[in-house]
Amino acid sequence: MTLARPPIHPSLADRSVLTLRHHSAESIAAVLDLAAALKTSPRPWPQWLAGRVIGMIFEKPSTRTRVSFEVAVARLGGTAMTMSPADMQIGRGETIEDTAKVLSRFLDAIVIRSASHERVDELARHATVPVVNGLTPLHHPCQALADTMTLVERFGSLRGLPVTYLGDGNNCFNSLAVLAAHTGMALVCATPEAYAPDPELVAWADETARAKGGSVSAVRDPIEAARGARAIYTDVWVSMGDEAEHEARVAALGSYQANAQLLRHAADDAVVLHPLPAHYGMEITHEVAHGAQSALWDEAENRMHAQAALLVHLLPPLAAD
Ligand code: CP
Ligand code: NVA
Repeated sequence: MTLARPPIHPSLADRSVLTLRHHSAESIAAVLDLAAALKTSPRPWPQWLAGRVIGMIFEKPSTRTRVSFEVAVARLGGTAMTMSPADMQIGRGETIEDTAKVLSRFLDAIVIRSASHERVDELARHATVPVVNGLTPLHHPCQALADTMTLVERFGSLRGLPVTYLGDGNNCFNSLAVLAAHTGMALVCATPEAYAPDPELVAWADETARAKGGSVSAVRDPIEAARGARAIYTDVWVSMGDEAEHEARVAALGSYQANAQLLRHAADDAVVLHPLPAHYGMEITHEVAHGAQSALWDEAENRMHAQAALLVHLLPPLAAD
């Protein structure tokens, strides 16, 4: 059966995606629904991005984000081009404002991975095409879409689903908290005090989640947090840009490892999530990442489906379609 193009969602069409915090729960559900439909759709996929060109700027390394966006765009009939800031005039001091204005004259959307969330904000302010955050130190919304898609695949409804995040209250946690708020997960974040997430974000996410039967909270004890969880999520202890704090982070986060012993406190059918790349022996063991409860590889694959669906919703049909 041919997949029908979903109706344009006003909260997504032509809008930038920096955190998903100000997008509606309905628009996120629409992206996740289309992602699931694309995943089971035989190839060739509908050519919904034919004639579209998406530019991608990577200030930091990437395997999944870059490849999943490039493949998603190719499967939908569009063109993705990756740009390294070192090869652009931005590397020689051209302003973000000018770069945004010029790139908007060529491209239909811009994906950017940056060492500065403020820089991505500024790019989006000056661009006249949608800007998609491909990771900043504060948020990783594309990752959270794939994480949420994976949880929906495993558990169906996410309302009240107990999910435990362990380790560093970083970009991946922040974006997961936003999606937990919109879907009503019961998300607990266990971190040492020094790496606790932003209380303002947690308070907003908790209030928003409660309206949907969920909650978002921040605690210290990893074992208490893991008790009865249906999903255990962890991410690296030393994110890109945090390398100078390597020793302090490893010392503080040592008891927050996703390992077989910790998993015994979770529900019997609990799954394990991690955005990857993993650092085995630190935030997760090889045994758990590659074990029966691991959903890591579906989660990685879902990056492509979720981002394909997101781009279809951001870029309405061209007049000739
Ligand atoms: N999870 C993630 O964003 O992976 P990459 O850094 O490889 O893109
Ligand atoms: N928190 C990690 C995520 C990598 C995908 C980082 O920012 O490096």
